[in-house]
Amino acid sequence: MSANFTLNGRDIIVVGGAGYIGSHVCKMIASTGGNPITFDNLSSGHAHAVKWGPFIKVDVRDRSALDIAFTDWEHVQTVVHLASSIEVGIGEKQPAEFYENNVTGALNLLNAMRKTKADQLIFSSTCAIYGETENMPLVESEPKNPFSTYGKTKLAIEHMIQSFQNAYGLNYVTLRYFNASGADAEGEIGEEHDPETHLIPIAIQSAMGSGRKMKIFGTDYDTPDGTCIRDYIHVTDIARAHIDAIRAFDQGLKTAEVNIGTGQGVSNLEILETIKRVTKLPLPYEPAPRRAGDLTRLYADAREAKSILRFEPCHSDLENIIRTAWQFHRSKKI
Ligand code: UFG
Repeated sequence: MSANFTLNGRDIIVVGGAGYIGSHVCKMIASTGGNPITFDNLSSGHAHAVKWGPFIKVDVRDRSALDIAFTDWEHVQTVVHLASSIEVGIGEKQPAEFYENNVTGALNLLNAMRKTKADQLIFSSTCAIYGETENMPLVESEPKNPFSTYGKTKLAIEHMIQSFQNAYGLNYVTLRYFNASGADAEGEIGEEHDPETHLIPIAIQSAMGSGRKMKIFGTDYDTPDGTCIRDYIHVTDIARAHIDAIRAFDQGLKTAEVNIGTGQGVSNLEILETIKRVTKLPLPYEPAPRRAGDLTRLYADAREAKSILRFEPCHSDLENIIRTAWQFHRSKKI
């Protein structure tokens, strides 16, 4: 935790700052006394989510535009990189776009950073880099055998960052997020993907009468209730991990790769039960075939983030996740 830490007016570039996680990171930077500078192409982010600092419309695939944007902010030391294609299913159909946006985009970013004073990178990676394993909770040293193109692109970027560290002295913290969820407690920002594929927003919207019948993909998994198990971490906690990473850099940290999760596994049916309890709305669902690429269980060993970054989730109680997400979706409907 970083209650007394202040960013003291420091400028921090947030690439992908208009997105779901990025906008929460920007808000957290601002509330810690910093100035988030959002770089985003608005392909999936939203201009209305950029509220806490300047906005520069730039696409990471456009190397010369990115170089110019970095030159304009050449005094900035710390960069948060969240811009990427994230829809796992789409990645299987359009790997060329995924590699270009994620891997080429990250390479352009790393090269742009080398031309300025930026020598600290916080990179948003994912639990999808680990792949199929029965070893839960997942420790960072687990073999990396990503199943999806999405996970492969993120692992390729992790390798690239390590090479830049070896050769050019880049300092980095790689945060391997588990399931980002929930919304800002003040209702200012939340999850607005289009198309939406994630369990919690789809289920809340279904309970609110979206007309989209809730389907549970797979009810025959080898788990206590037959449905998949995930580790849901509140997006405000994820945002806080970035501040903890900056503080760790300030205290001399050079490199780290850590899981950002709670360590608790929750089943899909437990999510539906919690949504029913919190919203007091009916939430019928129908069992559906397993979704390709889904792993049975995924939850973090969260100890490294605690020991290296002093990061501890404090907003990730499941009811709080659902309550804040519901509050956000209700406000959108009004
Ligand atoms: N699910 C349903 N019905 C739905 C949507 C999802 O049953 O309508 C199920 C999925 O099959 C899965 C669980 O809910 O069992 C969670 O699915 P999400 O799509 O919400 O999240 P994922 O665990 O698939 O995805 C997360 C991140 C990805 C990351 C992935 C790594 O959102 O960015 O973990 O496995 F790639």
